[in-house]
Amino acid sequence: MSVFFVTGTDTSVGKTIASRAIIQAMQTAGNQIVGYKPIATGQDEPVYTDVLDDPESDYGKEDNRDVLILMNSTKEAVSYQDVNSYTFSHTAPMLTAESVRIKQDKLDRDLARLTATYDNVLVEGSFGWLSLINQDLTFGDWAASHKMPVVLVVGIKEGCVNHALLTAKAIEAMGLQVVGWIANRINPGLSHYAEIIDALQHKINAPLLGKIPYIHKPESQELGHFITEVDKLTALI
Ligand SMILES: Nc1ncnc2c1ncn2[C@@H]1O[C@H](COP(=O)(O)OP(=O)(O)OP(=O)(O)O)[C@@H](O)[C@H]1O
Ligand SMILES: [Mg+2]
Repeated sequence: MSVFFVTGTDTSVGKTIASRAIIQAMQTAGNQIVGYKPIATGQDEPVYTDVLDDPESDYGKEDNRDVLILMNSTKEAVSYQDVNSYTFSHTAPMLTAESVRIKQDKLDRDLARLTATYDNVLVEGSFGWLSLINQDLTFGDWAASHKMPVVLVVGIKEGCVNHALLTAKAIEAMGLQVVGWIANRINPGLSHYAEIIDALQHKINAPLLGKIPYIHKPESQELGHFITEVDKLTALI
């Protein structure tokens, strides 16, 4: 059984897309895995169109893009609420009075249920490593409380070297292992793509697990083959 945490250099850098790639790669390698998005926040547009709106649900619309992509990437028959503890319709509930609703106990219980049921659980954080879960707790604190190894997704763009190295240092300073990092090409027009990856490979003290190119509608594609070092993840089991 393994549980690992996927963080990123920022919001919208490709944590969900990289999580899909990891889930698909691990499944191709013969491993059972589900993705878990503890806290899902608002978004501009739905990603899949065939989502039902259940007015009775505590979750409001069960239409969060990240949760649906994680559900759609695993072969396991998971429900929305199996793989998500909280869905909010606006973008920053952790910073408002609503944050009192977010209870670590529920996150711990929901995670424990998944780890008891599936061989591997990938946990996707929200925003970046030290982003808040509620007024007291950061995602990093919570990952550390479970001693989760961490995968760092780097959206390759200007400023990403600084954000990547800061994040890797912060993870290590909290006593956690960076299992590896993923280079995600979110900006096809960026120059020095190869040089940025070379610099990060030199400076991050963990292996590059794969490079995801810029792809049309990546949430609907097979991405597993981009994770070329999947054995670093299967070794956690
Ligand atoms: N390799 C890629 N090629 C093309 N588009 C991409 C790629 N990676 C991510 N995107 C797009 O960039 C956007 C952000 O990606 P994604 O949702 O995976 O980021 P995230 O870090 O999970 O964001 P959040 O902080 O909201 O969880 C999405 O619209 C996604 O489709
Ligand atoms: Mg995401």
